[in-house]
Amino acid sequence: MTYDAHFRVWRGDDEKGELVDYPVEVNEGEVVLDIIHRLQQTQAQDLAVRWNCKAGKCGSCSAEINGRPRLMCMTRMSTFAEDEVITVTPLRTFPVIRDLVTDVSFNYTKAREIPSFAPPPELAPGEYRMQQVDVERSQEFRKCIECYLCQNTCHVVRDHEENKENFAGPRYLMRVAELDMHPLDAADRVEAAQEEHGLGYCNITKCCTEVCPEHIKITDNALIPLKERVVDRKYDPVVWLGKKIFKR
Ligand code: SF4
Ligand code: F3S
Ligand code: FES
Repeated sequence: MTYDAHFRVWRGDDEKGELVDYPVEVNEGEVVLDIIHRLQQTQAQDLAVRWNCKAGKCGSCSAEINGRPRLMCMTRMSTFAEDEVITVTPLRTFPVIRDLVTDVSFNYTKAREIPSFAPPPELAPGEYRMQQVDVERSQEFRKCIECYLCQNTCHVVRDHEENKENFAGPRYLMRVAELDMHPLDAADRVEAAQEEHGLGYCNITKCCTEVCPEHIKITDNALIPLKERVVDRKYDPVVWLGKKIFKR
């Protein structure tokens, strides 16, 4: 069944722009990204949009659809009424380059600020041994496709540009948690999480978890356990010392 949907798409850059209305054909089984592509083919050849896999795996097509951060390729047109206006805007937390494409380099900067996996120097690659339970604990976090929907949604930076410098955001605090849970990682992640990556800014609103297309329990399984370890260390120096001496 084919019908014309009413699309309202942001056109412009970081300085100026406007929402432009387009009627666009929709066919059965299509997703929002299909409609954006049809719009490009038929009425707006210069519309800028970032995408790659059309399978929810590359994390490129993030946008806000009717104000909700989502992947365009995973948002079925059948979830909207045929007479509904569908508004597509770029991620609000990052500067717009053009139309639906934003500059997400904030996230690359934050990624670089986290020191990489630091195994004990006396172990050579190949000598690493891990329990299956430890492998499984971090498996969930490795599903991240770096779509940055969580980074875009977290109010700490969404509403406060000034916090960007001091806050790594949920995706990268999750990376710190993942490394801290790694039994072979010898770096001190807990203090850095609080002092350098801004863990204290997170007040566990869980908005990041709600928008994650990989359904990673960012708050419950990464951020809260990391916060608990910060508290352990702060209020129980014996636990802290024990952990330092007998690092798992
Ligand atoms: Fe996207 Fe989820 Fe990874 Fe955040 S944690 S970047 S929402 S996949
Ligand atoms: Fe932000 Fe997620 Fe914490 S939305 S406040 S990082 S729980
Ligand atoms: Fe790859 Fe949407 S195009 S996640």
